[in-house]
Amino acid sequence: MASIIEAIESRRSVRTFDGTPLTSEERDWLLGRIATLENPLGIPVDIRLLDAAEHGLKSPVIVGEQAYIAAKVPLVEHCELAFGYEFEQLCLEAWACGIGTVMLAASINRPEFERAMEVGEDEVMPCASPVGHVAEKRTVRERAMRRALKADARLPFEQLFFADDFAHPLSAAQVGDDALARALEAVRLAPSATNRQPWRVVVAGDVIHFFELHSLGKTEPIDIQKVDMGIALAHFDLAMRELGRELAFAFDDPALATPADCSYVISAKMSQ
Ligand SMILES: Cc1cc2nc3c(=O)[nH]c(=O)nc-3n(C[C@H](O)[C@H](O)[C@H](O)COP(=O)(O)O)c2cc1C
Repeated sequence: MASIIEAIESRRSVRTFDGTPLTSEERDWLLGRIATLENPLGIPVDIRLLDAAEHGLKSPVIVGEQAYIAAKVPLVEHCELAFGYEFEQLCLEAWACGIGTVMLAASINRPEFERAMEVGEDEVMPCASPVGHVAEKRTVRERAMRRALKADARLPFEQLFFADDFAHPLSAAQVGDDALARALEAVRLAPSATNRQPWRVVVAGDVIHFFELHSLGKTEPIDIQKVDMGIALAHFDLAMRELGRELAFAFDDPALATPADCSYVISAKMSQ
């Protein structure tokens, strides 16, 4: 498998597949990872590989898919973080193995997915994703969607990351620690719902505080932008680990003055 940082840098959402099924090796690999993946929240994420035709699963924005992965979590505090982290780790590793994905929260026939996933009353299925081989050419619709979402663009580093408090924007050049600079860049490249990039990060010495800028209004029963935050945590943690650094996550709100609609999520303490 290619490096996870390379996967983060090269990954794109895939909505056009070539119609071929996963090979038995790819299926076995996926099922093996699904059985072993974990997340730092310790909340169980039940990921399943589903045959599209067998369960009647489809999406108006996807072409040529034969299978989906979907996941459900218990409806508990921080379930979105656990889901986002673990599902994104699987999507990144899949990409590194030549398998395309795209997280879909809205563009799915949700009742069929929830039935296939046996989602109970106290559970939620935030997203699903097709899994398959990337087609040579994107459909006109996919190209139009990417343009509308500005899917290839990300906010500048200084708009997302801050030193000590929100009054001091942080540039990549100002980050004295090379591993930290690369892991923050990995956060910047993360996918998010409608590409809103809600993550805001304050670096305070060896503690990194993650905040969420709410820009999609209220989504029920879960906060879909908190799934984006879980994705960002996966990018940060996996990049740091690949660079030989350990993180300890904790809920330890520094009680900083925050911009409007911005709230504290979680902190990560870095090892040296
Ligand atoms: C939580 C989440 C939900 C998403 N839901 C949808 C969706 O319902 N339909 C869709 O076409 N794309 C969806 N996306 C894909 C985003 O639009 C895409 O990640 C973003 O535009 C950035 O493009 P990229 O992934 O190619 O970098 C979702 C992504 C995330 C992270």
